[in-house]
Amino acid sequence: MKYNDINFNKKTVLITGGAGFIGSNLAFYFQNNYPNCKVVVLDCFRSGETFSNGNLKSFGHFKNLLGFNGIVISGDINDKKLLKELEINYKFDYIFHQAAISDTTVSEQDLMIKTNVNAYENLLKIAIKHKANMIYASSAATYGDSNRFEVGHESPNNVYGFSKVMMDNITFEYLKKDLNISIVGLKYFNVYGSREFFKNKTASMVLQFGHQILKGLTPKLFEGSDKILRDFIYIEDIIQANILATNPKRSGVYNIGTGKARSFEDIVNILQKELEIDNGKEYIPNPYVGSYQFFTEANIESTKEFLGYNPRFEMEEGIKVYIPEIKRLFQEEVK
Ligand SMILES: NC(=O)c1ccc[n+]([C@@H]2O[C@H](COP(=O)([O-])OP(=O)(O)OC[C@H]3O[C@@H](n4cnc5c(N)ncnc54)[C@H](O)[C@@H]3O)[C@@H](O)[C@H]2O)c1
Repeated sequence: MKYNDINFNKKTVLITGGAGFIGSNLAFYFQNNYPNCKVVVLDCFRSGETFSNGNLKSFGHFKNLLGFNGIVISGDINDKKLLKELEINYKFDYIFHQAAISDTTVSEQDLMIKTNVNAYENLLKIAIKHKANMIYASSAATYGDSNRFEVGHESPNNVYGFSKVMMDNITFEYLKKDLNISIVGLKYFNVYGSREFFKNKTASMVLQFGHQILKGLTPKLFEGSDKILRDFIYIEDIIQANILATNPKRSGVYNIGTGKARSFEDIVNILQKELEIDNGKEYIPNPYVGSYQFFTEANIESTKEFLGYNPRFEMEEGIKVYIPEIKRLFQEEVK
């Protein structure tokens, strides 16, 4: 599906974090729709190293790129020498910056700020030199404890959310300058869909509940889950937003969600219906109280107006189209 009239054939596109969930979907979007687009994936890929929370330092996985025929570079966005080489060896037209410590429970503040904030600014400098448009991933985690999900009302409650606020602040600073490029920040809400499996425990609860149900287990929900509401957004709508962000003169920071909060209980109900397996539900205490978002709902008015974005997947549809992939992963990776 093409979301705008831009012909990306013969363009050069850098996708940082391209071996991860969203970045790899973007890489295939270009490969499938614009076969003559030169796609460069930069990702540090997993090494087995972990953070103090026990989770992997990188969720990048070669299997997310099986069938990809572009250029793959294994490297760290914190490596200034590598960034210099990219600046010299390529001439990018678009940079889709998805690389980040994407795990919201990581507590290493030094590395979080370096990777998410400082490396972003260094990539932005390359974008300016190349006259490339920058489209980067911000997050709904910027809102944290806020009850107003509009740009300007951020209140992050963990260092991850803070790092994304800092990225947005850098963006606003650069947009005050007279630059010849556009810079678009996309505050993704809770994304689910193909190629998220290798995020392990940080993959969406759609996938995790799906696999619990297929294993014949009773899905474990946090207590009060019917009142824990989030804006869950299907990967295709994330791709739509990224592509619309390449239209000229769209600079700004926008929410990318469905505009409708849904409960974790809803996810389980829809999955149980679609999978035709009902093992009931079990409720467990929530260990993340204090740094946990109990309600998120994207205000997408300005996203609609300025990007022309219109989410196509309500949760019922998103989960329905995702079911065959949830089953395939269960057969090939879980069982
Ligand atoms: N998935 C969501 O629900 C969601 C929501 C809001 C924002 N985001 C943001 O969207 C972006 C993509 O997230 P995702 O869900 O695809 O996560 P992901 O972890 O699957 O992808 C991030 C990729 O970045 C790579 N990476 C991490 N540190 C790197 C470094 N120093 N150098 C090079 N590569 C590095 C990882 O290897 C990984 O492949 C991230 O910026 C994330 O913060 C995601």
